[in-house]
Order: sequence, then C-alpha cells, then structure tokens
Amino acid sequence: MRIKKAVIPVAGLGTRLLPATKTVPKELLPIVDVPAIQYVVQEAVDSGVDEIIFVTGRGKDGIEDHFDESPELVQVLEQRGQKELVEQLKAISKMVEVVSVRQKQPLGLGHAVLCARDLVGSEPFVVLLPDDIIDAEVPCVRQLLEVFEQTKESVLALRRVPKSEAHRYGIVGGKAMSERLCQVDTVVEKPQPADAPSELAIVGRYIFRSEIFSMLEKVAPGRGGEIQLTDGIAGLLRERKIFGYEFSGIHYDVGDKLGLVRATVAYALKRADLREPLKKFLAQAVNEKL
Ligand code: UTP
Repeated sequence: MRIKKAVIPVAGLGTRLLPATKTVPKELLPIVDVPAIQYVVQEAVDSGVDEIIFVTGRGKDGIEDHFDESPELVQVLEQRGQKELVEQLKAISKMVEVVSVRQKQPLGLGHAVLCARDLVGSEPFVVLLPDDIIDAEVPCVRQLLEVFEQTKESVLALRRVPKSEAHRYGIVGGKAMSERLCQVDTVVEKPQPADAPSELAIVGRYIFRSEIFSMLEKVAPGRGGEIQLTDGIAGLLRERKIFGYEFSGIHYDVGDKLGLVRATVAYALKRADLREPLKKFLAQAVNEKL
C-alpha cells in the first residue's frame, strides 16, 4: 500500500522566534532564499507523497499562498525576461496538491494532527514538522517509508542526542532490531536526563497508522495544557507495535534561533555562488576582524 498523504501542522505560535513571528509565520522564514516550509514539502514530494494537508491557524494564510499560482508576479517577471525565476515560481505552484484544515486554537501538536482526521481518512499517513529540516541523500521520510513497507506499523524518526538535551525532545526506549532500527517500548515527553530511557530522540517525521486518531481523541491535556502527540503515541504503543529508525542525514531545528542560523549558514555554504564569499566572511567574523 502506497502512502499518499502527508500532514504538516503549521498552527503553532512560534514564540521562540518572536518578534520575527509576530506577523510572519515561522514556516515562511527563509533558509537563504527558500522558505523553511518549502524544504519540508520538497522532502515529502521526493519521498513519493502526492497530497499535503496543512493544519493551519490564524495569520498563516501565506503558507498556502506560497504553493499557489502567482499570475501577477509571473507576468511582471516575464515582461522583464526573467525566465529562470518564472520557471522557479511555476515549479513551486505545481509541486504538489495542497489542502488545509484549521486548528482554531493552538491546543497542542497532538490536537493539530487530530484536526486532519477527516482529510486523512483510514489510510496510513506521514507527519512532517516544519521546524525540523533534514538534509539527507535519501529523504528522511523515504527512509521511514521503507521501514513501514516492511513492518506495516507506525515508524518514528530518531536521532541520538546527549542526555543533557533530553528535556527538549520526546525520548524513546526500545529493543534494537538492527543497526538503525528499534522496536519502541516506551516514550517520554521532554524528560529530565535521569528519567530519559535512552539517547534516542524523536525528530519531527512520523509514519502513522490511522489508529493514532482514536488514541489522540482520548488524550487529556498534559504538559503545558496541550494535547501532546507523544501521549497519543504512548496510547498507540499499548495496542500496536511502533518502530523507531535512526535516519541518516543532518538535522536542523529551525524553530529555534541557533538552529535557524545554523541551517542558514549550512545551506548557504552549499551554494556555489555564496560558498567562497561566505567562508571568507565567517573566517573574518570568527577572528573578530570585522
Ligand atoms: P512547537 O512545539 O515548536 O510549538 O510545535 P510552536 O508554538 O510552533 O513554537 P514555540 O515553541 O512557541 O516557538 C511543533 C509543531 O507543531 C505545530 C507547530 O506549528 C510546529 O510545526 N503546532 C504546535 C500546531 O500546529 N498546533 C499547536 O497547537 C502546537
């Protein structure tokens, strides 16, 4: 069974990036000249997904607009002979089918995923969090889909983090099945180092069987009064197997100031036109010779 739909929750407030996110959705902040959300949608498309479901909130309309056609802009660029830009803009609007549903209040990530229930239906689906950008040769979602194709069970993307950083993530415990694969047996949201069952943290990529929805429905508000996705996963774990996969690739948390700067620098260094001048600038800046 091919998984066709991906849910991307974008209804969060983005308070860690205020004041930038007062009026601009954090998902539209650029990594060089491409909005963060476009990298994430591209990953889904490159993994074989053909429908994106955005869970949006107030002030987030620009995200859907980014994937829509822009006839006025295209007309002006055509008149100016800027063909390359015209092609780029047309390619963005043709990337993928986009639909959306509103989360009226930011009641938590688990609640946001639950809002997509009617649009997803009863098939397994992907969830991508746009705060997490993963630079990988094989797209991270594709890596997870390969595990799903074998196991037919829900799969979580994992990366190792020092226990001192466990309080920033959902942490899993489990039984190793192979070098990168484990069968999850516990999941704890943002534990203190001493309570972390392992160093394996959940990163924002998931494949879920549709049973996750009935679990989320039963979740009571937890930490911070929010309906946590982790609590839904813990419920699902009582009824079905869940696997974790340590993906290969570099992860950036662009919902956080330092992560956003890191991603910007790393992606700029990959650009032929920016690499050398940026390296020069960074060397000068580090030596405080600015
Ligand atoms: P975060 O925990 O990063 O929350 O959400 P946030 O509100 O966006 O950011 P900060 O912490 O205030 O800076 C993880 C993902 O879940 C979505 C966010 O948009 C983000 O993609 N989310 C979170 C929702 O869609 N709805 C919610 O109620 C909460």
